[in-house]
Amino acid sequence: MTTIDEVLVHSEAGVMTLTLNRLARKNSITGAMYAALAEAVAQAREDASVRAVLVQGHETVFCAGNDIGDFLDQPPAGEESPVFRFLHGIATFPKPLLAAVCGPAVGIGTTMLFHCDLVYAGDNAAFSMPFVNLGLCPEAASSLLAPQLLGYHRAAEALLLGEPFMAEAALEVGLVNRVLPPTEANGYGQAQARKLAARPLASLVETKRLMKKGQQQAVLQQMADEGESFRRMLVAPAAREAFTAFMEKRRPDFSGL
Ligand code: COA
Repeated sequence: MTTIDEVLVHSEAGVMTLTLNRLARKNSITGAMYAALAEAVAQAREDASVRAVLVQGHETVFCAGNDIGDFLDQPPAGEESPVFRFLHGIATFPKPLLAAVCGPAVGIGTTMLFHCDLVYAGDNAAFSMPFVNLGLCPEAASSLLAPQLLGYHRAAEALLLGEPFMAEAALEVGLVNRVLPPTEANGYGQAQARKLAARPLASLVETKRLMKKGQQQAVLQQMADEGESFRRMLVAPAAREAFTAFMEKRRPDFSGL
């Protein structure tokens, strides 16, 4: 398996732990990191010794979303792109998938959580999906799953205004299972993953399949629809302006767009 320092992969006691490790860039995710994540998830699916997967970041930041420089320089081109392979991998992952989230969880840092079975958050967690503010549209089937989970109007606040919501609000709507001190979130996620890893795997897999099957096709269809729009919008003027403004540390100017 390809290993890179920015995604640490560690398997122990039946749990594969994927740690986002690019703190200097707030754990934003590059194409190479998506490729490593997609590969790890594919291996976890096949490897009988892996019975659960935990995704975690640092106690100060989970993930600042896609690397914005990458969005500018090498926007993902199609369904074979690393980001899409990662998203498809987690959306169809048959075994338990957990996340421990502290600090900012931006863009895919939040949308990947819709595909996790259990999510534990530090009380400093801040979830946001600012796609519109970047001239983009939702991904990871979040345009389907956010309204279902949050209710339409709260989802509109999160997706149209791109406003962040905090750990307690995420707990209230059921996006997270439990809120903990940030120093304890990763450890608690690990303990819960190990609990699951000790359960009979076939029962876990069958139970998850039965819970998910009602809308698996709809989720994949939504991801494909979103992907088409997202890729088109990535190279359109509004997104180019948003990304350039971010790199130049100024406010974007969307007048006329
Ligand atoms: N892509 C590339 N670089 C990023 C990044 C991203 N998504 N997020 C943060 N960085 C970089 C910053 O440019 C900064 O670089 P510098 O040290 O060269 O100035 C460094 O990481 C630290 O980020 P900073 O913004 O100073 O940290 P903060 O603690 O004040 O804020 C965030 C953290 C996550 C709230 C903020 O960085 C942010 O909003 N990032 C952009 C999130 C985003 O829009 N992602 C895309 C979603 S689709």
